[in-house]
Amino acid sequence: MAQQEPVTSTVEDGVAVIRIANPPVNALSAAVRGGLLRAAQAAGADPAVRAVVVAAEGRTFIAGADISELGKPPVPPSLPEAIAALESLLKPVVAAINGAALGGGLEVALGCHARVAAPAAKLGLPEVKLGILPGAGGTQRLPRLIGAVPALKLMVAGDPVGATEAKSLRIVDEVADDVLSAAKALALRLADKGRPTPTSARQDTGERDAFEAAAAAMLKKGADNPSIAACVDAVRATFDKPFDEGMSVERAHFLRLRDDPRSKALRHVFFAERAAARIPGLPKGTRPRPVAKAAVIGGGTMGGGIAMSFANAGIPVTLIETSEENLQRGLERVAGNYATSVKRGSLTEEARDKRMGLIEGKVGLEAAAGADVVVEAVFEEMGLKKEIFGKLQEIAKPGAVLATNTSYLDVDEIAASTARPGDVLGMHFFSPANVMKLLEVVRGKETSPDALATAVELGRKLAKVPVVSGVCYGFIGNRMLARRTAQAERLLIEGAMPEEVDAALNAFGFRMGPFAMSDLAGLDIGWRIRQATGKKAPVADALVEAGRLGQKTKRGYYDYSGDGRTGTPDPEVRAVIERVSAEQGVTRRAIPQDEILERLLFPMINEGARILEEGIAARAGDIDTVWLNGYGWPAGTGGPMFHADSIGLPRIVARLRDFAAASGDESLQPAALLVRLAEEGGSFAALDEKAAA
Ligand code: 3HC
Ligand code: NAI
Repeated sequence: MAQQEPVTSTVEDGVAVIRIANPPVNALSAAVRGGLLRAAQAAGADPAVRAVVVAAEGRTFIAGADISELGKPPVPPSLPEAIAALESLLKPVVAAINGAALGGGLEVALGCHARVAAPAAKLGLPEVKLGILPGAGGTQRLPRLIGAVPALKLMVAGDPVGATEAKSLRIVDEVADDVLSAAKALALRLADKGRPTPTSARQDTGERDAFEAAAAAMLKKGADNPSIAACVDAVRATFDKPFDEGMSVERAHFLRLRDDPRSKALRHVFFAERAAARIPGLPKGTRPRPVAKAAVIGGGTMGGGIAMSFANAGIPVTLIETSEENLQRGLERVAGNYATSVKRGSLTEEARDKRMGLIEGKVGLEAAAGADVVVEAVFEEMGLKKEIFGKLQEIAKPGAVLATNTSYLDVDEIAASTARPGDVLGMHFFSPANVMKLLEVVRGKETSPDALATAVELGRKLAKVPVVSGVCYGFIGNRMLARRTAQAERLLIEGAMPEEVDAALNAFGFRMGPFAMSDLAGLDIGWRIRQATGKKAPVADALVEAGRLGQKTKRGYYDYSGDGRTGTPDPEVRAVIERVSAEQGVTRRAIPQDEILERLLFPMINEGARILEEGIAARAGDIDTVWLNGYGWPAGTGGPMFHADSIGLPRIVARLRDFAAASGDESLQPAALLVRLAEEGGSFAALDEKAAA
């Protein structure tokens, strides 16, 4: 069957309707750009055409440039050329924005002479999130349409606005349910009145001083983001340069940023997050089970946040505790979290009331009876979890998905405590569960395909980024984290101080280093795990024994006696560390920052390779997605496995061998997969591509 043309044109009542149909989201591929250009020329030449409407099929208008084409050699025509062809028509051109108009999609609409949007449409310039800037006239036309300050704000934030806000900002002229009819009618009215002045021909973009003040504030806040500086520079050109020169400024920034490794990494992040939602090996036709009602067992730190996640997504949830007192404490914490959001202005009181209304507190497991999904978040104790899943077998309704939020425990062992192990899986949320995006969905050996599909789909509904993990100690994220934690401790013993180790990771882009993080979470958490597993961490253990549990005791790896939240290096900690070094017979040495970084990151990458070769993660991109969304890995480096490719796998193999030889720690020897890829000249990205093909 011949492939359908992605751009078609029909003349209806004197209006040429140019329709874009390039599923799934009408991205502006070369074929779409070429189609738009030809359709604009044809409409211009056809005497039967009085006006033009640009419309799109499907649920979006245009989601922007085809992101997968950004890394490839450009194919003409360029998007700016296609847009110029529309804008330069002497007949009025109206955009009928039926859904998302993002990036290049909004830029197409800005090249039209007027815009009509559906009430549910979203309009925005998200390019900064991909490490670039709007590259098809957005930085030049939007300021000329709505003023430089609001335009800059929109492109620096990168978040879309709804149709009503777009109307009040004057981005769109009308909001209408039937966008196509409204756009046609507007186009004909404009044909009668005469075509409006194209946006590119306007010159007033507002007050220069106000722009400079707003720009300075944005540059300060986003000092480490080259896209923001580029947006400011390009928008500034609208004050003192004609349109065409401004376009050249924009183009130069666009090409430079597009070719920068940072943008390549951010594009990888975009596709990796979406690929993670595809579960490999699911039988065709597997359907997620419907989820109308949820229950969460345990109203502690995690349970409360998980219940909030359900309520935030509009799913009624029962929060279950062992006593009225515990239940009230849990509900109060939830209410407190919502109150903070209301106070900050990020949540209205009505929305708060609605969400609180969806959370019902109950004592006793029987309250899980009506739920389609039950998430257990009680203490991290195997015996307790088994007891609960054993009871759930009787209580939960048939077909309910039974999930555990365990951080480390064996999901298969938990599943074996019920007669319906096919319904059991892990739903591992991250703290604070109402905020953190990551959801590890742990697939047990008996987990049924539709239970798995339900958890992944539910994760998306909860606005999380779900990633499937196999069963192993710590799953994907915590298993890799354990490697970093061990090396961080080892670095202290060999000669570094906590502030040096944290500074190395801060310089790489993590907002928090391992020791600041540990102080925030509490040193007792790791201590309890070590007690249970018989492991030792001499420095951490000594600090716990000295009562230094972190911020909550005002002393941990740092001293918090000031405001309670800002840590400063503490001589007492230095003394503890030096004592441990001496006890271990280690001669301390100065460790350079780049060595600290390699020592922290390469063993994690190595563990990631093992996780991949064992099939615990299906793709390297899944591992990146876990670290980006659950552990604050800086997005501009694409995640641990993408970063490994960027460094070059042979170097990582060589350094791991150095570390293993120097320490005698055989677990630092490079994983077989890492060695093979390095020898073959392969990469994790190529491995993923092969798996997807
Ligand atoms: N290019 C290529 N593929 C895209 C795409 C794009 N711009 N936008 C979405 N897709 C793909 C996704 O990869 C996904 O593919 P898959 O099914 O194979 O995984 C599919 O379309 C559906 O996407 P989502 O899963 O994200 O669908 P949603 O319904 O959740 O969201 C959306 C739809 C809001 C449009 C969202 O996809 C989105 O935000 N897209 C990207 C928007 C964007 O960043 N645009 C700017 C591009 S850069 C640009 O325009 C430069 C210009 O200035 C020159
Ligand atoms: P928590 O100690 O704050 O809360 C546990 C709650 O479970 C308590 O309120 C307790 O009263 C309740 N509970 C105990 N037995 C119960 C029962 N039979 N029925 C109903 N409620 C019961 O613990 P937290 O931190 O919320 O952890 C819960 C689970 O989540 C653990 O498995 C933990 O490993 C995991 N987890 C914890 C994270 C964290 O950062 N705290 C992150 C991700 C997972």
